[in-house]
Parts: sequence; C-alpha cells; structure tokens
Amino acid sequence: MSRASLLKSESVSPTAGIHVVAGILAKREVTYVVSSDNILLGAIYKDSLDLTPDFIIEADKRSIKAKDLMTLKEGVPCISPETHLDSAISVFLETELKELPVLENDRLVGILPLRSVLKGIAEALDTVRHQQEHEKRSSTILQSINEGLIMIDKDLIIREYNRAAEELLGAKASERIGSKAVVKTRGGSPVFEVMKTGKPRFGVMSPLADGRIFSVNYVPMLDNGNVVGVIQTFQDITGQEEMRSQLLSSRDELDRAFALTLPNSRVEHKLKNTPEYRDVYDPDNGQITITEVIADGGYKHVVNALKVLADLNNKGIMSLLGISKDVLVQSIIFHDLGKSQPQFEIGQIVDPLDEFEESCAHAERSADIAAHFYQREDDVIWLIKYHHHPESQLPADFPNHLRPMLRLLKLVDGLSASLTRRNGKITLDVDGTKVYVYERNPHPDFDKSRVVDLFTGETREIPDYPDTTG
Ligand SMILES: [Fe+2]
Ligand SMILES: [Fe+2]
Repeated sequence: MSRASLLKSESVSPTAGIHVVAGILAKREVTYVVSSDNILLGAIYKDSLDLTPDFIIEADKRSIKAKDLMTLKEGVPCISPETHLDSAISVFLETELKELPVLENDRLVGILPLRSVLKGIAEALDTVRHQQEHEKRSSTILQSINEGLIMIDKDLIIREYNRAAEELLGAKASERIGSKAVVKTRGGSPVFEVMKTGKPRFGVMSPLADGRIFSVNYVPMLDNGNVVGVIQTFQDITGQEEMRSQLLSSRDELDRAFALTLPNSRVEHKLKNTPEYRDVYDPDNGQITITEVIADGGYKHVVNALKVLADLNNKGIMSLLGISKDVLVQSIIFHDLGKSQPQFEIGQIVDPLDEFEESCAHAERSADIAAHFYQREDDVIWLIKYHHHPESQLPADFPNHLRPMLRLLKLVDGLSASLTRRNGKITLDVDGTKVYVYERNPHPDFDKSRVVDLFTGETREIPDYPDTTG
C-alpha cells in the first residue's frame, strides 16, 4: 500500500462529519485530522469518545465536525523521520499509544506503529545474539589453539591474549589485555614493519632471554585496507631447533666419515681449500659478478657428485654393462684435484674467460696427480683426463669401452655443479641405458630436462617431470 493511500485511510479533513470519523475509528484507535495539504491539525482518539449510536445521532444532528472532536496538534505526541528509535520508544512508554504520527515540516508523512518498533527490536536482539554466539565461538577457538596469540592495536595496546600465550609467556591475560605491549625498539621488531607495510611475516625466529626459541608469525589486521593492528601467533620451537642442530652435527659426522674414505689428508685439504663461486652472468659483456664464495666448494662438489651417483646406483645404473662403481667413485674423488681456482671476493666483477683456467688443463693435471701420486687404475685416469672434452675431440686411442662411463661422469659432474653452485633441484630416473634428468635451475641455460643414452651418447630435451614443476 502506498503512503498516500495509507494516510488517506487514517486521516480525515477538519470538516469530516461524525459518520466518517466513526467509520475510521471502528477500525483504528486514532484518526488524524489534516488540512488539504496534509498539515496535521489534531487527532481524534477512539478511547476519548463515547461512540454509542445515541452519541452519533446527537453529534450528527448538531453537525459536529472532526475539528470539533480533535485533540489539538499541540497535544498530539508525534515524531519526525529523524527521531532516534530510543526517543520514539520513550514516547510510546509515556503515552501508552499504539502508534505515533510522523511529521515533516508539520505535514503528516507517515505512521510508526508500536508493532514495527517491537519487530525491529526483536530483529536487533537476534543479531546481537548471533554476534555474541559468533564471538563466543571465536573466543573458544582462540583459547583452544596450541599457538600463543596476541593481538595488538596500532597504539600497541594488547586486545587479545589467549590461553596458550599465557602458558608460553607465564603471564595472565587479565593483566595483559588493555596494557601496552612490550615491543623491541622501533625498527627492530617485525611488528612495526608489518604495521608499515601491511604485509605478513611468517616464521620469524625469536630467541628469548631464557634460552627458548619461538617461531612467530606477524599478520596485519586490516580495516578498509588500513592496518589497524597486528596479530602475533607463536610457538616454542626450542625442541625442533635442538633436533635440527643435532641433525646438522650428524651431517658433520657423515662428512667426517666420508673424509676417512679419501686417500689421505692432503686430498681432503686440497678439496676443502678449493673455492667455488656463485655468480650472476651478464650476457651483454660476458662478465660475471661474484655473489657468494663457497670456501670448501671443491669438497662440496665431490660430496654432491657422490650423492648423485648414489641416487643413480639406487635406481640400478650399476647393473649396466660397462659401468663400474669403483671406477666412477675414484674418478669423482680425483677429477678436479688439479684445479687451480682464482681468489675472488663477493661483489667482484670479472671476465670468466680471462680469470678461469681452461677446464681441459685441470682435467689433465688431475689425471696426472691420480696416476703418479695415487696410482689409480688406467680407466680412472682416462676418465679424469677427458672429463671436459667434447666427444668429437677425444683422441683416437680413447678406449671405446669407457665412453658410457665418461658420459655418466660428465653428467654427474654437471649435476653436482648445479647442486653446489646454483641450488638446482634434480630428479633422476634410469631406464635401461637411458638416464632421465629433470632439472630446475635458476640459470636459464640449465633449467631444462633431458635424457642421455649412455651407450649412444644421444642427448635430447624432454618435457618437465610433473613433480618438479608444481
Ligand atoms: Fe672438472
Ligand atoms: Fe667437476
């Protein structure tokens, strides 16, 4: 029903007769008396009239009009469209009326029934109850998680402090909530960084004064894109860290065990003092910038090569005719022993063609060392001497039976260089005479997967292994 027709059925003109007034009051508690342009003049309340047939006949006889029966506007409680619900409720309580007229510039523009108000209140209560339930649920979740959680606002006031935080930090939430958080000096704590950038920080290692180590996540609280606080969640990882350092030291033990297999301490010393470099290559001028010095790069290179070989061994490579584990292990240990590396520092820019000795030179020197100081067998010497030669440049007397092993040594050497110098990720597969190499490498030249046939020497690129691309 439109507002006009609604008001029409609820209001009368000042000159309306008793029958019209009585007709409306038969259905409603009140009728409003309005001018032709809807200005409220007064109201006639049903309970103020004695609407008996006698009264109506009498009033009709005396031509009594609506204006004669009405309570004047001044005595009619009313509200405006802007009246706050609280004030409207007060008027309802004071007057015990069931509805209030709504006036705008003295004009009757609507009616507010008590029923609508009650309905609105019921809905609001419902929303509050839902909100309370939601808050209760959130609080239960906060209290039940094992991670400590502290929420601080942008003024560093603590707003939330869960049970796990109480236990981990030995403080009471009731004392901490509302107080200022103790945060390391500005610039020193990720809290300020996250407040500034609005970007979360995860897994920040935080050693405590008592020796424990916490891993802390800092997540911004956003409101319309603005950071209004930071949520910190944290857990005690002291145990895990201890385990990790034990693992690291056991890796050291493994390293020491490997060192025992080396022919003597001079070989170990040479490998451990031959640096390898991580660098960035500039294709425009062919120069490289040194980004990291791996002081014991020679040693790591051999260890990684042996790991690659061990992986291939697990996958059955040694069952191939012409592939000998012992020959390969010895070749790997000695293959770069004659390497003479320049000394660089981080940040240095050099031309690799000027600074690094040509690879075939160290291969020849390494072969010499293995032969004359360590009396390795001929197959080992051949493999070391030619581990940098392209197949087309092998001498005519290179033993054919060594070709598959030479291919394998070159493959293992390259993969180890990728692991040692470029943090490459490698997955290997062996199928008959073929070795499948799935390599992810930050250097575009090496970021490719390939298959090498050890017997024919044929190499071709293949699509990436699904597991290494995901
Ligand atoms: Fe080499
Ligand atoms: Fe090498």
